[in-house]
Amino acid sequence: MRKRQIIIDCDPGLDDAVALLAAFAASDMLDLVGITTVAGNVRAELTQRNARIIRELAGRGREIPVCAGAPAPLLRDAVTAEAFHGSTGLGNIAFPRPRVRASRAHAVNFLIRTLRAGKGFPLTLVMTGPMTNLALALSMAPDITEGLEEIVVMGGADSEGGNITPYAEFNVFADPHAAAAVFRCGVAMRVLNLDVTHQIRTSDDQIARVRALGSKQAVAAADLLAASNRLEESAKGREAPLHDPSTILCLLRPDLFEGRQATVRVVTEEGERFGQTVPDYREDGHVLWYNQADADAVFSEMLGQIARYGE
Ligand code: RIB
Ligand code: CA
Repeated sequence: MRKRQIIIDCDPGLDDAVALLAAFAASDMLDLVGITTVAGNVRAELTQRNARIIRELAGRGREIPVCAGAPAPLLRDAVTAEAFHGSTGLGNIAFPRPRVRASRAHAVNFLIRTLRAGKGFPLTLVMTGPMTNLALALSMAPDITEGLEEIVVMGGADSEGGNITPYAEFNVFADPHAAAAVFRCGVAMRVLNLDVTHQIRTSDDQIARVRALGSKQAVAAADLLAASNRLEESAKGREAPLHDPSTILCLLRPDLFEGRQATVRVVTEEGERFGQTVPDYREDGHVLWYNQADADAVFSEMLGQIARYGE
């Protein structure tokens, strides 16, 4: 079976980092052709540095380009999420300094070049941060939609309500105008929004099972998950949801997730609902809005992927 070619656009970020580790591990099913980074959880120079750290931790430093992208949202003032990711973006965990540089290509140009080349074999774009890079690429080269099989996004919320305001989820809130452009572009989408990611939280016992796998990648994944839980518990009093890893896990095991077709509007007018996602549930909608997951099976799948580092 042909591997699914993917690009991950991210803002590492503790959970982005775990998502990257899962994606690198699943190399028999996912052909990760590149990583693009964006300002979000922390500022852009840190998100690209963090992506390079995880790339080298996975031993893929020489193969997979990391292209730094937009340092700021399209229109709104920049917001970050250090409270949930620490000042470094990786929970202030001491990782070795990355040695392999980022690509000289800007993320937006990488997306345009790679998606135009992908018109014969369309790619999947996984987005786990603010959607600024793709929005800019769509504005510069609308034809790139022909090179996209689907877009898998971590973002938004409906019945669950927001996590950065009562109405808005962080990735959309950080750049609502970009999110609106992406939801409007017409490419098939699957959305891991808070309605489903809030069902998938990792307990300390589950983190101990990750750590017990023993490889340096598994220990790092456990450290990232534990840091995420510590920061989430201090801010919200609960274990951290597996937001970004859910995008990779739904690619590997779509049977573990359920949702409804919809079209999605984003509130871009300033005010209390700024950045809110408003799904219109309809059979002919191009967006699969997930709302259910088998949380235990999702964790087991992630554990199984991380376990492959020790093979
Ligand atoms: O709301 C959760 C999302 O915002 C995750 O992608 C997390 O990494 C932050 O970017
Ligand atoms: Ca993220």
